[in-house]
This record gives sequence, C-alpha cells and structure tokens, in this order.
Amino acid sequence: MKLYFAPFEGISGYIYRNALNRHFGAIDKYFIPFILPNQFGKLSYREKNDILPEHNKGMQAVPQILTNSSEDFLCTAKILQEYGYNEINLNLGCPSRTVVTKGRGAGFLGEPEKLDKFLDEVFEKIDIKVSLKTRIGLDAPEEFERLLEIYNKYPVSELIIHPRLQIDMYKNLPDLDTFENAFGQCNHSVCYNGDIFTIQDYENFVERFPKVAKVMLGRGMLINPGLAREIRTGIKTDKETLRAFHDEILENYKNVLSGDKTILFKMKEFWFYTGKLFADSDKYIKKIRKSEKIAVYETVVDQLFFEKQLI
Ligand SMILES: Cc1cc2nc3c(=O)[nH]c(=O)nc-3n(C[C@H](O)[C@H](O)[C@H](O)COP(=O)(O)O)c2cc1C
Repeated sequence: MKLYFAPFEGISGYIYRNALNRHFGAIDKYFIPFILPNQFGKLSYREKNDILPEHNKGMQAVPQILTNSSEDFLCTAKILQEYGYNEINLNLGCPSRTVVTKGRGAGFLGEPEKLDKFLDEVFEKIDIKVSLKTRIGLDAPEEFERLLEIYNKYPVSELIIHPRLQIDMYKNLPDLDTFENAFGQCNHSVCYNGDIFTIQDYENFVERFPKVAKVMLGRGMLINPGLAREIRTGIKTDKETLRAFHDEILENYKNVLSGDKTILFKMKEFWFYTGKLFADSDKYIKKIRKSEKIAVYETVVDQLFFEKQLI
C-alpha cells in the first residue's frame, strides 16, 4: 500500500512536513497545500518557500494548484516544472464558501462542461504528470458519474477521491458505496482519502477494498503523526518522538516567524489536532488556546507531556 500525506493549507507547510518526515516518515508522497495563481503570474512568499527544493529534500513532494483557469494552471505548472517538479495536483475538493463561489475547488465540480474544457486544454499542452484530488460532487453523489466520465477521458496520473460532497464540508461519513462504484469504473490509478483516523479504520478499509493500492491520510496524521509509521511497522507513537517532533516545529516557527502571537497561532492549530492524542487533555488544550506568551505555552506543554498519557 502506498501512503500519502494530505495537504493542509495553513498547517502542513514545509516546516511541518520536514519534521514529520524526520521523526515519523513512512509516507510515500507529501502533498503541498494549494497554490492560488495570482494576476502577477508569480508565487507568493509562502508558496515559494513551500515548494523550494531545499525545503523538500529527502521526500517526494507534490505541489497542488487551486484554479479553474487552464491558462493560470499551465503558467503555474511551468514555474513548478522549472523548480524540478514532474507531477502537479489539481484541487477539486476545497469546500470553503469563498473558494466554491468563485467556481474553484469543489465549486468547479458544479460546472462539468467547463471542467471538461479545462482538462482538455491542460492535457493538450502539459508535459508533466497531472493528478486530481476530487470530491464526489456539490450536492448529490449522482453527480460523480458525469465527473468520472470526464476524468476517464484524460491521461490523469492518479485520481485521489475524497468521497464527500461539497455540502458535507468535513461532516457526515465518506460515501463508500459511491467510492466503490467509482473505483470499478475508473480508468486511472485511484487513491482513497477520508476519515482514516486509526489503525482500525485503516484495516476496515483494506478489508472492504483489498484492491485499492493507495490511501491518503489526512486529519488522522495531524492527530497522530505516527499513524503511517504504525500502519507500516506496528511501532506506536511514543511521547519522546512526539515531543521531538513538536519541539522541531516550534523551534523552526520561532526562526521564521516573528512575534509570540504569530508563532502561537500556528502551535494552537497543531494542538487542535494533536491534543486529541492525549488522554484527558481538555484542560491543557484550553490553557494552550488561551496562552499569549511562548514561555507560558511551553510550561503548559511540559505539563501535558509530563502528566498525561497518549491514548
Ligand atoms: C484546515 C484544512 C486545510 C486543508 N487544506 C487543503 C489543501 O490545501 N488542499 C487540499 O486538497 N485539501 C485540503 N484539505 C483537505 C484534506 O487534505 C483532506 O482531503 C481532508 O481532511 C479529508 O481527509 P481526512 O478525512 O483523512 O482528514 C484541508 C483540510 C483542512 C481541515
């Protein structure tokens, strides 16, 4: 089984991915959070830092683009190709209102003819691999049949399916029946993504879908960064490794960000997920959320690691 790490805009930047790769690893591909092409045809400071080859050493990283303009996609793909990338992923899943109302991300799924034309123009000109990360529709799973027909027309390098609708956001359960249907009808190499939080979830998935050869892990990895390693080797996440992982991320944010508030904003997001890995941690996570000074934050983190056990 190939295991991929899902992109998380605002969370899984290069600092996070490098620490993950160093301390836990076991990931075959790391997807970089989306690049949003702008009118200047240039990457933003954040985007450039995220894709720089020196920030992605020793791992296979795949950049992602969020757009509905084939021209913008091709222009950004060219820049990425110059940095040495030979695979680009298209975001067809972002469910956020501001993205969807502009017809991007999951919003693009509501305009199948336009999407077809977009893919036609992209695949006519592009000479590197293009993979797609898609939801199954906007409002109803029946939409996926038409979308799959379109995807099947093009030499997509892999199709990552998150079987939720845009209206689901991250609620409800992934629609495994629609996924099963799609898997049977898809010409492409398929990767499954959605709600694999534990080894048990992974095993249940593999039992139902023994022929699926790729799984993308998302929030399950943010909660337990050792999930992929545990799937591969059976080694459970321990406090010492988790602490080293946390400390490296904090240290690197301190090096590149300025001001306690900015750094703590990032660390609070980290604990929003990883806090769930500790038993009985609500009180500590609340204190972390309220902390405004790094010194205070570090004391709470010390206490959490000292006083609480991993689930
Ligand atoms: C805060 C946040 C940021 C995300 N950013 C991206 C992104 O940049 N690109 C993308 O394709 N998906 C993004 N996603 C979706 C995840 O990559 C993943 O598909 C989703 O969490 C479902 O997988 P899971 O159930 O295993 O978590 C984001 C999700 C969240 C919660």
